[in-house]
Order: sequence, then C-alpha cells, then structure tokens
Amino acid sequence: MIKPDGVSRGLADEVLVRVKKAGLKLIRQKELTMTKELAADLYSPHLGKRFYPGLVKFITSGPVTCCVVEGEDAIGRLRELMGATDPRKALPGTIRGDLKEANVLNPDGIIKNLVHGSDSPASAKREIPIFFKGED
Ligand code: RTP
Ligand code: MG
Repeated sequence: MIKPDGVSRGLADEVLVRVKKAGLKLIRQKELTMTKELAADLYSPHLGKRFYPGLVKFITSGPVTCCVVEGEDAIGRLRELMGATDPRKALPGTIRGDLKEANVLNPDGIIKNLVHGSDSPASAKREIPIFFKGED
C-alpha cells in the first residue's frame, strides 16, 4: 500500500516503478480512502499499542493506493525495497530511505513512511480482502 503521505506527494507511480523494476509483478491496483472500520481491521494486530490511535487517524487521512504484487519471495523482496520502518534508519536505495520527507513525523508523532507491505503470507491473505472487499 502506498500510504496517504506517498499518494498526496504524488509518489505512487515512483514506488510502483521501483517495485516493477525489481521484477515483481503488479497484479491488482486500486485507489481508495480507508474508512475507520477498514483501518481498524488492517491494524488489529497493533490494537492497544501506543501509536495505534494516531496510526488509524493517519491511514484514514487521505487516499491510499492498494496493490497486490506477485513473484518469488515477493514479501521479503518488497520489504527489502521498502527499507526500515523508520525512514531515518532506512538505507539509501530503499523507498523509505530515498523518498523520505525532511520531517518524518506527523503532528501526532506517527512515522510517515510512505508504504506498507504485508509481513508474511498469512498477513497478505488477511489484508488483501480488506483492500479489495466485495471483489472476487
Ligand atoms: P507497515 O506495517 O506499515 O508495513 O510497516 P512495518 O511493518 O515496517 O511497521 P509496523 O511495526 O508493522 O508498524 C506499522 C506502522 O505503524 C507506524 N509506527 N509508528 N511511532 C512509532 O514508534 C511507530 N511504530 C510503528 C508506522 O507507520 C508503521 O509503518
Ligand atoms: Mg507491519
């Protein structure tokens, strides 16, 4: 997912070009604005954490681009492309490292890190239907 900060900065295409250049196949793509309900569903594993309320607020703050990508070790390779969760720690050459803003924190102290990627096949299986609800 390209998060609201990435979409509002016009960087969705830049992110997707990097994903495709890495040899991953983009098989679905859709822009939507997450509702509170969808965000609560997506971030249920983070429920109760200090940053959870701000995270839900951030992810619902504007349109996001949701994608399904396919390929050998797609999850591992995508997360490598994304870089560290905190863009200040993300290496050059990664999406978060190269595209980060000067100030990576939003007013609620949430890290604006441009992208989200499922962290396991089980997460992908859980998350894809959240983004593509009501579609086959
Ligand atoms: P994501 O889930 O977005 O792909 O990122 P991630 O696996 O690298 O990070 P995760 O630990 O799953 O955290 C989800 C999102 O919560 C925000 N966060 N803020 N203030 C903080 O310390 C903090 N920790 C996490 C980030 O937006 C992170 O991407
Ligand atoms: Mg995560």
